[in-house]
Amino acid sequence: MPVIGSVTALRRADLGTAGDYLRAAGDGGLELADLVAVPVGSGGEMAQDAGLDELLPAGAAEVVKAARQTGKAGQVAQAVAKVGGAVVRIAFLGVGDRSPRELRKAGGELGRLLQPGDRAVSSVVARQPDDQVRAFAEGVLLGSYRYSEKSGAAADHARRAELKLLVPAPDAAHGSPSPGDGTVRAEAIDEAVILATAAALARDLTNTPSVRKSPQWLADAASKIAAENGLGVRVWTDKELANAGFGGLAAVGSGSDRPPRLIELSYSPPAARHHVVLVGKGITFDSGGLSLKPVDAMKTMKTDMAGGAAVIAVMSALASLGVPDKVTGLVAAAENMPSGSACRPGDVLRMFGGRTVEVLNTDAEGRLVLADAIAYADAALDPEQIVDVATLTGAARIALGGSLAALYSTDDELAADLLAAGEASGDRLWRMPLTEEYRSALDSPVADLSNVPRKDPGAGSIVAALFLREFAGSRPWAHLDIAGAARSGTDDGDVTAGGTGYGTRLLLRWLAPSTVSPAA
Ligand code: BES
Ligand code: MN
Ligand code: ZN
Repeated sequence: MPVIGSVTALRRADLGTAGDYLRAAGDGGLELADLVAVPVGSGGEMAQDAGLDELLPAGAAEVVKAARQTGKAGQVAQAVAKVGGAVVRIAFLGVGDRSPRELRKAGGELGRLLQPGDRAVSSVVARQPDDQVRAFAEGVLLGSYRYSEKSGAAADHARRAELKLLVPAPDAAHGSPSPGDGTVRAEAIDEAVILATAAALARDLTNTPSVRKSPQWLADAASKIAAENGLGVRVWTDKELANAGFGGLAAVGSGSDRPPRLIELSYSPPAARHHVVLVGKGITFDSGGLSLKPVDAMKTMKTDMAGGAAVIAVMSALASLGVPDKVTGLVAAAENMPSGSACRPGDVLRMFGGRTVEVLNTDAEGRLVLADAIAYADAALDPEQIVDVATLTGAARIALGGSLAALYSTDDELAADLLAAGEASGDRLWRMPLTEEYRSALDSPVADLSNVPRKDPGAGSIVAALFLREFAGSRPWAHLDIAGAARSGTDDGDVTAGGTGYGTRLLLRWLAPSTVSPAA
């Protein structure tokens, strides 16, 4: 798991500031860190820290000013302090307005500074509410994520860096910490570790090259995760899929030497009253099929299973977070390849449930595999809600870029809950319309529907959502088009280049009642 950082609390009543810590370490009472992070708020505002001032060539405030550290979230100015005989790196870390969002970003940049084997300490979140501590810890863990297949990388991954957060502890006389007393509860960091570990799992699956990542490979990875986390698992083979009428999955997978799979994971806590089905697009490589993609568009298509990766990652964390509902995760896994056995433009498919679809573009494959899985959820699983997650259209990426994903829903309450979870988790959403005028663009003269319009009305992401809606029956359904947010070209805050794990934290926030209190 290439999160190279770990975060724990250093909980002692006498340690609040970097200066307190450095004095204690200098006296030999604590291990001396390689790196100490010191928070700087917007406008350069900092906690008084006379202990730190003594160890720097000038007072901390002067150092920050000279280094042009303005306190913008994620900005870093490095200095060194002399502690006894040792020299320690001090990172003045901009934390902006200290909102969860800015702390997540600042944490990400701190995580990025961590080198394998580093021992680091941060006073950044002293006396902050729990959800800010959680956001900061999450940022550190995710910013420290690395994916590398360079020779020697495995050895680096084994040497984890360690960050200790200086967390004020109540005096023994005041008893154990409780919400609102200015101390931080262990759950804040525990939740951050669970959420970041799950998101890192989604990143790992997404970043794995497709030469290894076949549908069966993805099914094996999911089965292993299921075994480790007490989930039920069924992997449908291509023959079982064909026999049961999954015509979309069968057709999309038919061009590849590596056959399609439907991965079905189930989490059933005792006394669950509500059942949610999550559906993930699991195209392990999207060449476009016979409607072949051009060179540049194909380069990133190993990540076309990012929705499926998020679903697997969410399933992995449900038990640790104590989610009370029954959750089924379906990953429609196939490799979209051109060959003599590939699906052709003009083919008519019989989908799960019997509806027919005329394929006009084999590169609109995601909706075909998702439609089968959604129809199966509706007909066979009887859920209260269905939510699908998919890198579905380039149009969604053009509309919203990488910072937000598109949300479509037939149910306002479900949409509102997902939007709120998006804001809280940092995986942000923007609700888009299911514009009825565009629905007729999918009418086909020979089948019930075509997979893309014959006459293009534009609005590619909306049209794709309208196609999927046809298969959800009358159940409350939401669709997340994550084509932009699932992958990043650059490192930024808690996001690392490559697969971002988008959707994992969003769906976990939506499903898990947090034990951590929000900011006042
Ligand atoms: N996987 C792509 C969508 C995509 C594009 C994801 C860019 C991430 C980045 C999807 O299967 C696709 O090819 N969609 C087509 C649909 C079109 C043929 C109607 C698209 O968006 O061009
Ligand atoms: Mn495609
Ligand atoms: Zn695709």
